[in-house]
Amino acid sequence: MICLILGTRPEIIKMSPIIRLCQKEQIPFQLIHTGQHYSINMDQVFFEELHLPQPHHALDVGTKASKQGHQTGMMVEGIERILLGMRPEVVLVQGDTNSVLAGALAASKIHIKVGHVEAGLRSYDRQMPEEVNRILCDHVSDYLFCPTDGSAKNVRKEGIVEEKIHITGNTIVDAVTANSIISDQESIILHEMALESGSFILLTAHRAENVDNESRFTSILDAIKKIDYPIIYPIHPRAKKMAEEFGLLDQIPETLRIVDPIGYMDFLQLQKNARLMLTDSGGIQEEACILGVPCLTLRENTERPETVSVGANELIGWKTDKILNKVENALQSRKDSGFSNPFGDGKASEKILQIIGVC
Ligand code: UD1
Ligand code: UDP
Repeated sequence: MICLILGTRPEIIKMSPIIRLCQKEQIPFQLIHTGQHYSINMDQVFFEELHLPQPHHALDVGTKASKQGHQTGMMVEGIERILLGMRPEVVLVQGDTNSVLAGALAASKIHIKVGHVEAGLRSYDRQMPEEVNRILCDHVSDYLFCPTDGSAKNVRKEGIVEEKIHITGNTIVDAVTANSIISDQESIILHEMALESGSFILLTAHRAENVDNESRFTSILDAIKKIDYPIIYPIHPRAKKMAEEFGLLDQIPETLRIVDPIGYMDFLQLQKNARLMLTDSGGIQEEACILGVPCLTLRENTERPETVSVGANELIGWKTDKILNKVENALQSRKDSGFSNPFGDGKASEKILQIIGVC
């Protein structure tokens, strides 16, 4: 039996193809949800849309802890308790959140094998809590499922032995492939929001280093408010909380529509039809590249350098003038969509389950 641990929006989406494959192949599995994300539109909506089973075990951490150590500690304690009773052969975690670190730590300390899906990503920026999580998780893992050659190279450089490293592609390709057509058939978001394909920018910004920092978030939103082009901003709860605290949600121009977080089918539809993505999200840098939508990333580094190498993504930082300049250039240039996808063939989930010997 295997155990899958998840806790946040991107983990639910990127684990969904593995969960669905376990169901299809009748592989016994148990699901632990840490509760790091808990609002319906950050959590339950994805279980429903992606037809995932409800978690067998749920921790209620999100509402109780907000500090890094407190949140991670509560998760380690809860996950260990569950794993001691469950004793799975392998625990799978995905990505770089505190839920991932907690799952990997709890399992490795009680000698349960850990598989890290999306291993080996490095921004080389230790200011990001995610970078610390990535490094620690990789070093306690028994299976490192690296999406690309580059991510495998990163962990080899850190001395991880070759037997643990597997290049599988990223499960986000599996998820996009499985859901893109369903989104085309089911989503009516363009109609509901009266949007025309190719005539709006889709924005997301939620990274702690951008939105928790008043001057950086102000600088980003100052640029956004000055862009004379329709922008849709499904705002992450962290960003909303901080924007309200810093008083940044006054005087929103008509071009900028700030809405609640959106379900996956609608969000995929918005991405596919956007003229441009503006984001600091990790997963959206990948999805934009896979879907052939140009992306400008509101950061100065990325753990997804492949998106930049194939010409799908550019790092533009957080300074107002630079954002305005880069957005203007991108809107004036021809919409380029001929990027090659560096994240695999959409069979990452199958490879992962084969490598751990259950499929
Ligand atoms: C976390 C991850 C980040 C990932 C993001 C995905 C870490 C360190 N960060 O950041 O890598 O990109 O998830 O979206 O693990 N909140 C709600 N409802 C929710 C979830 C959060 O209101 O369902 C609010 C709460 O005020 C909470 C704050 O957002 O305190 C931050 O949530 P948290 O899960 O700690 O971090 P994220 O910013 O979501
Ligand atoms: N996403 C979504 N609705 C939204 C915003 C994002 O479904 O309103 C999806 C998006 O398609 C991607 C994932 O959430 O698959 C990215 O999550 P997020 O940006 O929160 O986290 P990160 O990837 O930065 O860790």
